[in-house]
Amino acid sequence: MWGSLWPLLLGFLMAGAAPGPSLRRPSRELDATPRMTIPFEELSGVRHFQAQAQNYSTLLLEEASARLLVGARGALFSLSARDIGDGAHKEIQWEASLETRRKCHQKGKNNQTECFNHVRFLQRLNATHLYACGTHAFQPLCAAIDAESFTMPSSFEEGKERCPYDPTRGFTGLVIDGGLYTATRYEFRSIPDIRRSRHPHSLRTEEAPVHWLNDAEFVFSVLVRESEASAVGDDDKVYFFFTERAAAEEGSSSFNPSRSSHRVARVARVCKGDLGGKKILQKKWTSFLKARLLCHIPQYETLRGVCSLDADLSARTHFYAAFTLTTQWKTLEASAICRYDLAEVQAVFSGPYMEYQDGTRRWGRYEGGVPEPRPGSDLPSLVLDFVKLHPLMARPVVPSRGRPLLLKRHVHYTHLAGIPVSTPAGPTYDLLFLATADGWIHKAVVLASGMHIIEETQVFRQPQSVENLVISLRQHSLYVGAPSGVIQLPLSTCWRYRSCYDCILARDPYCGWDPSNLSCVAATTIANRTSLIQDIERGNRGCEGSRDPGPPPPPLKTRSVLRGDDVLLPCDQPSNLARALWLLNGSKSLSDGQDGYRVGVDGLLVTDTQPEHSGSYSCFAEENGLRTLLASYSLTVRPATPAPAPQAPATNEARLAPDVRLLYVLAIAALGGLCLLLAFSLLYVACLRGGGRGRRRKYSLGRASRAGGSAVQLQTVSGQCPGEEDEGEDGEGAEGLEGSRLQIIKKNHRPRCPRLS
Ligand SMILES: *[C@@H]1O[C@H](CO)[C@@H](O)[C@H](O)[C@H]1NC(C)=O
Ligand SMILES: *[C@@H]1O[C@H](CO)[C@@H](O)[C@H](O)[C@H]1NC(C)=O
Ligand SMILES: *[C@@H]1O[C@H](CO)[C@@H](O)[C@H](O)[C@H]1NC(C)=O
Ligand SMILES: *[C@@H]1O[C@H](CO)[C@@H](O)[C@H](O)[C@H]1NC(C)=O
Ligand SMILES: *[C@@H]1O[C@H](CO)[C@@H](O)[C@H](O)[C@H]1NC(C)=O
Ligand SMILES: *[C@@H]1O[C@H](CO)[C@@H](O)[C@H](O)[C@H]1NC(C)=O
Repeated sequence: MWGSLWPLLLGFLMAGAAPGPSLRRPSRELDATPRMTIPFEELSGVRHFQAQAQNYSTLLLEEASARLLVGARGALFSLSARDIGDGAHKEIQWEASLETRRKCHQKGKNNQTECFNHVRFLQRLNATHLYACGTHAFQPLCAAIDAESFTMPSSFEEGKERCPYDPTRGFTGLVIDGGLYTATRYEFRSIPDIRRSRHPHSLRTEEAPVHWLNDAEFVFSVLVRESEASAVGDDDKVYFFFTERAAAEEGSSSFNPSRSSHRVARVARVCKGDLGGKKILQKKWTSFLKARLLCHIPQYETLRGVCSLDADLSARTHFYAAFTLTTQWKTLEASAICRYDLAEVQAVFSGPYMEYQDGTRRWGRYEGGVPEPRPGSDLPSLVLDFVKLHPLMARPVVPSRGRPLLLKRHVHYTHLAGIPVSTPAGPTYDLLFLATADGWIHKAVVLASGMHIIEETQVFRQPQSVENLVISLRQHSLYVGAPSGVIQLPLSTCWRYRSCYDCILARDPYCGWDPSNLSCVAATTIANRTSLIQDIERGNRGCEGSRDPGPPPPPLKTRSVLRGDDVLLPCDQPSNLARALWLLNGSKSLSDGQDGYRVGVDGLLVTDTQPEHSGSYSCFAEENGLRTLLASYSLTVRPATPAPAPQAPATNEARLAPDVRLLYVLAIAALGGLCLLLAFSLLYVACLRGGGRGRRRKYSLGRASRAGGSAVQLQTVSGQCPGEEDEGEDGEGAEGLEGSRLQIIKKNHRPRCPRLS
């Protein structure tokens, strides 16, 4: 069955490469370019927290008290959620002792990275206390912390049943009614397990004869209150998301690269009311079930982040998951986002099941009868034997719409958070924040047609992996935890959009054009929401009747050049989705590569100007069917002045003997070749260092010597770097899917290479 997905993978690999099979289209359509790019220097309204500690990876938001609690390496912080950088934070120092760290080092662990107390768990325990666990230099400890005074208790609790030893191990945990539900790889030997502790009935997963979990790396867990509004008296469930080693199974027939090592994404669930078995499955979950989670390329996806959007009704709960896709040959690094509906997950968990067949040592579909009541609901001991041997469901959970919402090449998503935003017109849109491994946040809205990335924001100057994301509705903020600190960003920055069209093109469900104020405002901040103009679904309608005069027309600039010179007419496209459109004399549309014109993202280059190039030029941004004037120029090409000829007179050359002339020609050719080589290597280095990832590149404009008038040296580094398709520079390569970018390595009018005199 997965054989049929193989062409898709191929198509994805080929996308952006040289002419490929027609299969490439579907993948391309899913790749969204962020509309706006906000580099670190242009951030605004951002607050920042950083102390002595590192690794601010655990975040807990308490909306009621407006506190953001942070677990870092060797410390806990309590920050004001209104402004995390207000300087009035509280801190608990919680380091492992020198003695503990020495022992950790003796056990062969790294005393520069691992032998510290990394706080991995921080949750509200009850009305008065928080609960925290730390790796504590490979001897995990936990503590109930008085939330009010924010001080450490005098005694600790043993953490080895509750917290991973290794700070980089996948871990997820929840406090539910005072009980701890944690999933990670515990102990020194790293045994994966889903456990309940601090509870009258401590439970864990079964290991024999069938391992319920194999090498699992946990990502996320969530409680879904399915008992509410359940006609059949269903229990609340806890869902766990992880990646694990695939069992020898699962129908992968035609394509089976390395049977033992490939990993698959999973969702598992247990019932909150599970009490464990009496004789069979004693102190074990009796409600454990797991199923495969499919997104795009089943063999190569690793789950990185999951978020749950709870609707008012649990039945409408849905999840978004971020995967990274890595092929065996490491030729591709990409991320995918899929959405799953709880209803689909529930349907998969209702059967059929898989069964381990001792004879073939493989998992196959279980065809026998299922004892009643079904595993996963209410359990008498009769069914426990069945449960013990049938943890795995036969059907995978497929994403909503049957495919990913987004595929992004050269991007490594590490986390995501989402929130439903209701718009004045009625519909609710899911807004997602996707964090990357190099410190950027992509803000995206989920539309019927797919995902639209509203903006990409660089939140850390130093590239670093974002480790946590939390959204606060009350503070209208996103909190970002990373190795170097915590960042607080506004959920929307509508003021960035200056005109009605700009405001609706953005398609930010938080932003709308206020016709009474002629400004783009956050829909949450104004009283009369119904008057706001928005067009989230299409992003181009509603402004026709608005009184918005638009931004003032740009002033006309004049340019005058000598015949034969090159001239660049700058025109910066503010949106990455806009196409530059140039008109000459108000009507003639200029196309790239014709009549000496080159159209780039940052301007129009007119090469070897002739008198017919004179005229008035207007630059428009064309986006989503809308056209905006960005710049206009009046260009005059003057006849070239009679040759100033400071160079060696031509007569000299004429007198040279033919063989000397040949030498000259050869030398010039050699130098020319050298120049070309240099230009290519420069381009290549620029590509390697540029790190595409959708950032736009600027022309580098260097004015050539004054003598040449306004001759301009133009170098545009293309979006497509030599060799990137084959080498996949771990995300460092340029963005190949962004469409063609102008690529000019202009032969210079007055070369900078040494000249023969
Ligand atoms: C780590 O261990 C090395 C010896 O292997 C020692 O020289 C160094 O001081 C230790 N570093 C810390 C921070 O303890
Ligand atoms: C909360 O839990 C702590 C630690 O177990 C306990 O000392 C405290 O009494 C509890 N508070 C309430 C209100 O139950
Ligand atoms: C902690 O932060 C450092 C960088 O400051 C990073 O290299 C390391 O991977 C982080 N460790 C964990 C466990 O996140
Ligand atoms: C219009 O803008 C002004 C400030 O520029 C603000 O005080 C006022 O509340 C706004 N009106 C509406 C309806 O948003
Ligand atoms: C809100 O705006 C709409 C449309 O402009 C208008 O019809 C309505 O009267 C306004 N309501 C209030 C309470 O101002
Ligand atoms: C554009 O207008 C200028 C000045 O009016 C004229 O010289 C030029 O020939 C026109 N060019 C074209 C292509 O129509």
